[in-house]
Amino acid sequence: MDYSNWEFAKFAQGMRELGVDRPPFSDVMPGALQGVGDDKLINFAPVNFLNLQSREDVMDVIVETSRSLGIASGGSRISQGVSVAHSALEDAMAAYHKKEACVSFGSGALANLGFTQMMTANQMFNPMLTLDHSDVVMVFDRDAHWSLWKGVETLKYGERLFSFKHNDVEHLESILRDLAGKRVCVVFESVYSLDGTVAPMHDIVDVCEKYGALSYVDDANGFLIYGPSHRRFHREYEGMLRSSFIMVSMKKAVGVEGGVVCGTSDATIALEPGGTAMFTAGMSAPAAAATTYIMDLLANREPEIVDNYLRKVDLFRARLQAEGMPVYDTQTCFTSIEIGDEALAFEVYHAYLEKGLHLPVYAYPAAKRKKAVLRIIINEGHTDAHLEKFFDASREIRDKFNLGV
Ligand SMILES: Cc1ncc(COP(=O)(O)O)c(C=O)c1O
Repeated sequence: MDYSNWEFAKFAQGMRELGVDRPPFSDVMPGALQGVGDDKLINFAPVNFLNLQSREDVMDVIVETSRSLGIASGGSRISQGVSVAHSALEDAMAAYHKKEACVSFGSGALANLGFTQMMTANQMFNPMLTLDHSDVVMVFDRDAHWSLWKGVETLKYGERLFSFKHNDVEHLESILRDLAGKRVCVVFESVYSLDGTVAPMHDIVDVCEKYGALSYVDDANGFLIYGPSHRRFHREYEGMLRSSFIMVSMKKAVGVEGGVVCGTSDATIALEPGGTAMFTAGMSAPAAAATTYIMDLLANREPEIVDNYLRKVDLFRARLQAEGMPVYDTQTCFTSIEIGDEALAFEVYHAYLEKGLHLPVYAYPAAKRKKAVLRIIINEGHTDAHLEKFFDASREIRDKFNLGV
């Protein structure tokens, strides 16, 4: 076959030159270290930052559920059905978020795609069963995740799709005022992982209620970390519970895989025949059982796991700031080094790699153009020695690339 009319070769060459043409691989679970054999990198990439899948009790849940329920979904929710582990998880999630019901998906991205598809399509299954959302207007925070934007990319901007400046409630209100009389759904995240900002969720939901708009919060990043009254952002999280829909991903604090959307009983039934619930695999039963177990662990039995982790992140960020590194000053568990220029971000990435440290680059389309960052996620398994190695390397890299000046 002649591929010369295609751009694969040129694109692949560009990826090779950036040194990111294939993902890194490991002979250990995603965690504080990465690589094969004795020569491991210290890893700041994994989003399962609490490492809970490696705890013996969590592993027991995963293994026992694999033996009893298997890892195969057996088909879609609507044809084959779900396991008792899924059903228990969905009940626990709905209760945790004070919603009537919950639907689980294979991942957070599939939950977002399923939701946006359901909210914007005209689904005429038969003359007796229709869900016509072809007039619905979606209003997005500009920094919302790719998997949210992807689901609305065919909507005409300015007619069925609008966006408000990141976390800017006044701008949102001006858009909603102009859309009075239409069916509107406002979509935003709780915690934005690239710059660590937290949405003013109380105020956003107030405005949505004032204008009769539905609200959808993607809480992939803050789930089980924020919410309790003794932690930061309690007020924001009380606001989140008032939103019409709450989505979470199981990839982060829970540290397995899967996603859910919680909402009213009727609205979540509308998700069942949608694309990503009906036409692809759901969460695996072991992941569902592990999630229910971990929710109870972090919310009730050992909340100090999160409190200790957040203290570790605070100390880490304060030290980087004291050393003049250009890190965002937001007080969440995500710390990013601001770089800006994409090419420079990859140079800095390689400089860290040469020193045995892996920090992933987030550049367009994960970040805005010219707003590339290296995202650092402290792992529960990082030792003091790992972190000291990181600080030593950062001082050298800061001076070499003039970071933060
Ligand atoms: C805000 C947000 N939403 C959705 C997702 C997608 O979740 P998942 O990785 O479970 O597909 C992510 C993943 O990084 C995310 O950060």
